[in-house]
Amino acid sequence: EPPVTPPDFARWKQQGRKISVLTAYDYTTALLLDQAEVDCLLVGDTLGMVVQGHSTTLRVTLDQMIYHVEMVARAAKRALVVADMPFLSYQASPEQAILSAGRFLKETECRAVKLEGGRRSAATIRALVEADIPIMGHVGLTPQSIRRLGGFKVQRNADEILADAHAVAEAGAFALVLECIPSDVAARVTAEISIPTIGIGAGAGCDGQVLVTPDLLGLFEGFRPRFVRRYAELGDEIRKAATQYVADVGSGAFPNAQESFQ
Ligand code: KIV
Ligand code: NA
Repeated sequence: EPPVTPPDFARWKQQGRKISVLTAYDYTTALLLDQAEVDCLLVGDTLGMVVQGHSTTLRVTLDQMIYHVEMVARAAKRALVVADMPFLSYQASPEQAILSAGRFLKETECRAVKLEGGRRSAATIRALVEADIPIMGHVGLTPQSIRRLGGFKVQRNADEILADAHAVAEAGAFALVLECIPSDVAARVTAEISIPTIGIGAGAGCDGQVLVTPDLLGLFEGFRPRFVRRYAELGDEIRKAATQYVADVGSGAFPNAQESFQ
């Protein structure tokens, strides 16, 4: 099967074929997700929370992102790998954005880049697309705005969200993440704009869905937003396995003869 490309996203929206996106941060997990035929692997700056253990995404650096995007892109044979631009790697100017996004495309095998913001990022998105860098937008709750917003809250201003979504689509992005907005607003955005919407906490009316993989796997237990569906309880599994290992080492039950060299 050929690798997924941004034009596939446009076609899938037209066909009504839903798009699946998951986050990935390392080679081993990305390999498994790609084998499961997830359409798109987003190396999200949620890295700061679920890998680094910070309480926000703000501390993640461009160099750290490049290190992780490289690992994920090395694993993905089919999925479109999208690199998330971290806080202050693109906000200063379109020039800064092109230089930062350019590093992802020149130093890794990723094939698209994501950034946050609607109207306020439209000129930057346009400049990136003119530089031939495929862009995924992100509006609604934008976690890099946490200090201004004062918390991770549902965004309910439909007029603002619609204006932001149209601005991203008109600037030339190939897809748009809608985070933490009411389902009816997400459905309206999805009907009005030409590019596919990828929802997280945005209801079933989007063209696709994205989840943070450690949330979906039950690995990240820091907090559990309402929009997360846990498809596995790997946190419990890992604790159980490690507890048994500790007991077996303690009792001498591990290793046995087959696990040793004669
Ligand atoms: O950083 C991230 O993982 C994201 C997704 C939640 C959309 O931006
Ligand atoms: Na992000």
